[in-house]
Amino acid sequence: MATILIADDEKNIRSGLQIAFEDEGYDVLTAENGEIAWKLINTTSVDLVITDIRMPVMTGLDLLEKSSSAYPLLPIIVLTGHGTIETAVQACKNGAADFFTKPIDLDHLLLTVSKCLANRKVLDENKRLTEELEKVKRESGYKKIIGQSEKVSRMMGVIKQVASTNANVLIQGESGVGKELVADALHNLSLRKDKPFIKVNCASLTPTLLESELFGHEKGAFTGAIARKKGRFELADGGTLFLDEIGEIDLSTQVKLLRVLQERQFERVGGEETLTVDVRVVAATNRNLAEEVKKGNFREDLYFRLNVVHIEVPPLRERKEDIPLLISHFLETLSSKNNRKVDSISAQARKALFAYSWPGNIRELQNAIEAGVVMCHGRTIELEDLPEQIKSIDNEDMLSVKLGSSLEEVEKELITRTISFCGGNKTKAATVLGIGRKTLHRKLLEYNMERDDD
Ligand SMILES: Nc1ncnc2c1ncn2[C@@H]1O[C@H](COP(=O)(O)OP(=O)(O)OP(=O)(O)O)[C@@H](O)[C@H]1O
Ligand SMILES: [Mg+2]
Repeated sequence: MATILIADDEKNIRSGLQIAFEDEGYDVLTAENGEIAWKLINTTSVDLVITDIRMPVMTGLDLLEKSSSAYPLLPIIVLTGHGTIETAVQACKNGAADFFTKPIDLDHLLLTVSKCLANRKVLDENKRLTEELEKVKRESGYKKIIGQSEKVSRMMGVIKQVASTNANVLIQGESGVGKELVADALHNLSLRKDKPFIKVNCASLTPTLLESELFGHEKGAFTGAIARKKGRFELADGGTLFLDEIGEIDLSTQVKLLRVLQERQFERVGGEETLTVDVRVVAATNRNLAEEVKKGNFREDLYFRLNVVHIEVPPLRERKEDIPLLISHFLETLSSKNNRKVDSISAQARKALFAYSWPGNIRELQNAIEAGVVMCHGRTIELEDLPEQIKSIDNEDMLSVKLGSSLEEVEKELITRTISFCGGNKTKAATVLGIGRKTLHRKLLEYNMERDDD
């Protein structure tokens, strides 16, 4: 349970709050002035501070200032006597989480404390993930591919092992899984990294255009060929040629491609001269190329030439454990791209991102986070900021609230579901709900959900 530090020079307030918070199951420390409180913050593990403003030796405002610069994530709630509301407002500007005037509304204070602690949990989690992200980037040797699931680690292992060779690589995987990134990694981790990395999208060109794009053409080779043009194979000499969507090329281009792969030689369209190149070919497809070979759509000999090393990029639904790091990564990159300061995501929104099946894979996750960053109102992406298909998925861990419901209905439903989520254990349910065991008991009685002797 969380530890709360109460700093006030009035003994009655200290002991009153201590009893109330201990009743709710918190561990409580007390201090009679700011200096003692500051010592406790530095020497014990305090999760939240409640402090009076006017205290001898060191005031609450000084404590606030020291603490928020040394421990920016530590929530501090300020208490104030009459007539010092302006100071309290100033305190909030200086980083206090909230302020209360005396006499204190205890229920409200308890609620605020549990909210601050939940919020802090989100921020702590966020900080941990940011640190982990940095570590993954440092250790992988290639910063752009984020993920530490077993499948991604294994894939990174293969990439590192084959990058420095000249073997052709065929990358297969669904749309949006990161095939182009893998090709980029293969080039950048290779000895060819200072030479060109040339990309051709084989699906976007007609067969004739693709041929001249790949091999180049001589002046006058066809109508419109007003000058000699180098092809991508020539441009990639010494480096890597990435043939994207290789499954889409027609059979006649396949024959020509096979020859370059076998002999490293070719002629420009309409040309006589035979050119020799040193090119490493990496190809990608979202089709199952072996199937296409069986169907007669793809030459078997070309398939074997391309598929010396095979890398299968796993779909996101098979490595959901990578989602938290990917979220942190996209929050960082997409909030700076959109000039926003969004650095966290609510627990509910995170749950929805986990429950969704991601047919569009990482590209779809990236788009969802970007939508969240753009739509959100503060620093935290909430469930409602996410795209429709994600926030509306049927998630049995989720409570959907119909507009028009009363607070009582929602509270009843949440309590019932949480108790069953905790396997009937009410103490655990109270902890999850962020309230004390006694408060839960009182609510159950109030809503006729429990017998008095239960
Ligand atoms: N592991 C990853 N870490 C970080 N970003 C990733 C990762 N995988 C993919 N991305 C990002 O997701 C987007 C889609 O990746 P990419 O274009 O490489 O996918 P693809 O498999 O080539 O998709 P398509 O089949 O549609 O061409 C890119 O913006 C890429 O930077
Ligand atoms: Mg691609």
